[in-house]
Amino acid sequence: MIKKCLFPVAGYGTRFLPATKAMPKEMLPIVNKPLVHYGVEEALDAGLFEVGFVTGRNKRAINDYFDANYELEKEIAGSGKEELLTEIRDVINRGTFSTTRQRAMLGLGNAILTGETLIGDEPFGVVLADDLCFGEDDGVLAQMVELYKQFRCTIVAIEEVPDDQIEKFGVIAGDMIRDDLYRVTDMVEKPKKEDAPSNLAIIGRYILTPDIFDILRNTPPGKNGEVQITDALLTQAKKGCVIAYKFKGRRYDCGSIEGFIDATNYCFENFYKSS
Ligand code: UTP
Repeated sequence: MIKKCLFPVAGYGTRFLPATKAMPKEMLPIVNKPLVHYGVEEALDAGLFEVGFVTGRNKRAINDYFDANYELEKEIAGSGKEELLTEIRDVINRGTFSTTRQRAMLGLGNAILTGETLIGDEPFGVVLADDLCFGEDDGVLAQMVELYKQFRCTIVAIEEVPDDQIEKFGVIAGDMIRDDLYRVTDMVEKPKKEDAPSNLAIIGRYILTPDIFDILRNTPPGKNGEVQITDALLTQAKKGCVIAYKFKGRRYDCGSIEGFIDATNYCFENFYKSS
């Protein structure tokens, strides 16, 4: 039912400078796989096989990663090293990969609007690859797809965050439907702690209905002069069409150095050492 997933990956990744001066943040490795690999696997596991990247300058490595590398593959064919390519070959075989480019960094809302050409008029997933998520059983996006089948409206993933973190997120207010579900009534982008309507922060997983594109077209730049997806979601929320879901699993903010290191340690201990 939902087939497509958009990955806005045009951002500069300034928190990782100088590493990101000449390479995309999304290609930094968490142990032996680039960050974006984990997000794409999560999308494929949720049944979203049509993957679209909204890229920018300096992001070519992402396109190359999701394609064959004939020279390298010929070189190591038949050797023990070939099995190191098994996982990425599997990912490439399961999905299709398309790209469009955001010309100027005008914000996440603008990046998603830029992706309209890859999505068209259907509901779709959005993954911010720097939020690395591990679901308890199913992946976080797969959990959200199940909810979409029930509610048929926009679904955002949320998590409780400590007071001193609130200013980094879009924060929701809502009416509780279930202990892990809210119908969103209000949302504020990066509020001061005292202005935040709750401690429920939106993280980088969304299922969006396609009316979001028209809304984004008419959404002026907001906080930090960027077109904010939160502002557009608020328009949907005012019609009762946004559900916030406290996902089952854990999330690492790999856009920050601390989160990146924590995620690396977690993956090393739980996946790499035991493989
Ligand atoms: P971030 O706020 O993490 O920005 O964007 P960033 O540029 O990647 O990182 P820093 O803050 O400079 O270190 C959240 C997500 O939205 C995408 C980013 O690529 C990231 O996945 N994004 C943001 C775009 O694609 N385009 C934009 O104009 C802004």
